[in-house]
Amino acid sequence: MCATINKVIDLAKTSGLPLTADHEGRLAFGEGLETVTPAVRRLAEMQEVLMAAGADGPDELYYMYRDVCRVQDKELIAKYGLRYDVTVIRPGQIGREFIKTAGHYHPLKPQTEFSYPEVYEVLAGKAHYLLQTEPDEDGIDAILIEAVAGDKVLIPPGYGHITINPGQEYLIMSNWVAADFSSIYGPIKELGGGAFFEVAADGEDEEFVVNPKYKPTPRLSLQPVKNYPEFGLVSGEPMYQAFLADPDKFTFLTHPEKHF
Ligand SMILES: [Fe+2]
Repeated sequence: MCATINKVIDLAKTSGLPLTADHEGRLAFGEGLETVTPAVRRLAEMQEVLMAAGADGPDELYYMYRDVCRVQDKELIAKYGLRYDVTVIRPGQIGREFIKTAGHYHPLKPQTEFSYPEVYEVLAGKAHYLLQTEPDEDGIDAILIEAVAGDKVLIPPGYGHITINPGQEYLIMSNWVAADFSSIYGPIKELGGGAFFEVAADGEDEEFVVNPKYKPTPRLSLQPVKNYPEFGLVSGEPMYQAFLADPDKFTFLTHPEKHF
């Protein structure tokens, strides 16, 4: 235990950028990178989406570093209308529930029937991505994808998403997403969280508890991670560098109507 206390996590290999994280999950920005101050998501802001409001947990849950880039790439990223973010989710629990993001949906791209997609890449730790369609009278489609360092997870149009840290380590992940929309947090808040809560269970590694506010009761479909070479997304190949190598492959994020 003591040996890991001051461990620095080197994210260079998985991110393709000179990034490290300290033992409290704070990022340090190396040569050529703009320094970003994170937005902090606190326990008090998450009460509506927890399995057990008021349960004990750490005050600070995750850190959102938005618009991470090398200074020299800023213009190209802006030209493509994209944003590259890094999110750090601390390990631990709120009551029995593993620490997770608040969860949101993306709006439809104007004049289309497609919501904006997004892509995640795990830089360190283990992630569970809960993807779910918007609730209607038929219920929802819920998918769980486990990903580890190097893996990419695509959030397709039509799906909202929540990221859970089920591990003992900091979960550090990056995402590429269209820069010019605001996420929609209301529906998941109104339903008291996502369709499933992941909890630490005695004698088992993990367990998913269905959220009783979702009717009819949803099923959780476990799906493996995949590569999407047509979008520049291949496990083990940093997607920041993949964008630089072939930025046109990433237009699926801003033009979903042409790719899905
Ligand atoms: Fe998102």
